[in-house]
Amino acid sequence: MAAARTPAPYPDVLVTSRPLDEYCALFGLTRAQLAALPGPLLDCPGGAAGLAAEARELGCRVIAADPAYALPLPEVAAHALAARDSMVVAMAARPRLYPALGRCRSESYLRSWDRARRLFTADSAAHPQRYVAAALPRLPFADGTFVLTLSGYLLFAYPELFDLEHQLAALAELVRVTAADGEVRVQPLHDGFGRRCGHLDRLRYALGERRISSEVRRVPQEGRRTCRVLVLRAAGHRRRGIGK
Ligand SMILES: C[S@@+](CC[C@H](N)C(=O)[O-])C[C@H]1O[C@@H](n2cnc3c(N)ncnc32)[C@H](O)[C@@H]1O
Repeated sequence: MAAARTPAPYPDVLVTSRPLDEYCALFGLTRAQLAALPGPLLDCPGGAAGLAAEARELGCRVIAADPAYALPLPEVAAHALAARDSMVVAMAARPRLYPALGRCRSESYLRSWDRARRLFTADSAAHPQRYVAAALPRLPFADGTFVLTLSGYLLFAYPELFDLEHQLAALAELVRVTAADGEVRVQPLHDGFGRRCGHLDRLRYALGERRISSEVRRVPQEGRRTCRVLVLRAAGHRRRGIGK
């Protein structure tokens, strides 16, 4: 599944390093559900996340895809370190946008990112084939390769890069590489300032025209907060039933 080495197209996008437990909380998944997946999971964009390394420990096969993987690994790690610094500032300015922050201070929360970044660096050095350099809206995977596809902090987080047309193309591509009875989950549905996507209904309508069914699911977070996750699947297929 090795991809051609292409330059990272969007240098302004942060290369973040969330750990597995934060992925589970944000996407409404449990470790047990990941361990029970009957096929591979795609994390796109993978960033410098710990998911691929940590989920493998559970027996879940993860492929991460991200244009940043076209860069030499030390550069990816340096981008991830810079993203951490940006997050300290962003969290101080808008703490409510970061559900995993909970009641802890940003420094102690970001220590979980430091661990995830170290796991990512070690895993991608040892198993580079798990980290594929690729950019939406075109992925180098065959139709239906993955039973579950996760896409966090990209398609709605950077509206200046992804307008409705680009979101539609990217989401359709994520559905294409996901098994017909699998699922694509996307979050957050707001930008870096907490502004909700204003054309979500139009986007869902356009997805429907492409025979992609969609649902906005509320995933409970710590306290009384919820996180909205867009769940997509090929229309007319029964769900495999990855925990709801
Ligand atoms: C904020 S990070 C999210 C990483 C991870 N999903 C997380 O939640 O921590 C955004 C990532 O999107 C990647 N990216 C930028 N453009 C992309 C594209 N067209 N297709 C896929 N990934 C892209 C960046 O390289 C960066 O690593």
